[in-house]
Amino acid sequence: MTEEILKVIKEAGKIILNAHDISFDIESKQGDANFVTQYDTQVQDFLYKELSKIIPNATFIGEEDKNQKKVNNGSCFIIDPIDGTTNFIFDYKHSAISVAFMQNGEIITGYVYNPYLDEVFYAHKGKGAYLNDRPLHMKDIHLKDGIAGFGTSPYYRDMTEQSFALARKLYNRALDIRRSGSAALDICYVAANRYVLFAEFCLSPWDYAAASLIVREAGGNITTMDQQPLTYDKPISILAANPAAYKDFIH
Ligand code: IPD
Ligand code: CA
Ligand code: CA
Ligand code: CA
Repeated sequence: MTEEILKVIKEAGKIILNAHDISFDIESKQGDANFVTQYDTQVQDFLYKELSKIIPNATFIGEEDKNQKKVNNGSCFIIDPIDGTTNFIFDYKHSAISVAFMQNGEIITGYVYNPYLDEVFYAHKGKGAYLNDRPLHMKDIHLKDGIAGFGTSPYYRDMTEQSFALARKLYNRALDIRRSGSAALDICYVAANRYVLFAEFCLSPWDYAAASLIVREAGGNITTMDQQPLTYDKPISILAANPAAYKDFIH
């Protein structure tokens, strides 16, 4: 199944790479600057069509669904067709396709694909995490010794003060900070030891579902910012880090 799903995701990545004349619409989405382009919809439609051939009884939850559905107890894909749409619109070349497969409320497999670098992060529950063919093993690197990522929760402008207080805290305690524009990649960068920690106040399940399994399978911690286990049915805060940096942050 992994190979088949990977093939579909890489094929979908070509839609992102070949995109041109990107027009965007902010009217149809909730929240300031929450864009959707014709390519977000196109990638999502392609994934739904192709993935349902691989797992015919699966249901789908995607960011660009017209009517948002709830996770259920069967087999369910949770999909962000383009994580980092603002980056995509401005040709920043840092966006990803995120696909998680969930069964009975548990994430079983997760894939995050950055087509610009042809990097795929993926994990299988109990079977480890990989970046392309390389197994991912997280190192205990302290917060003060690495780069910390943070998100601005751009669609929840009432959280701006909190987000920049978080950025300041991280800037004071880490080597330096980054804000990349793709939460799914941010969490995978923690799994790959590129970041020691990532935090954002408000993310949706399609932003973190796949990446959460990847970081766990690589040996890292991922919880809400108040250290609660993740849920996959509503927006929550996210704190992902290697075990040493996680402890540094909460103490
Ligand atoms: C957004 C990106 C961004 C994060 C936002 C997300 P989108 O996803 O992951 O980095 O700060 O909170 O909603 O809308 O580009 O798929
Ligand atoms: Ca969006
Ligand atoms: Ca997203
Ligand atoms: Ca998206």
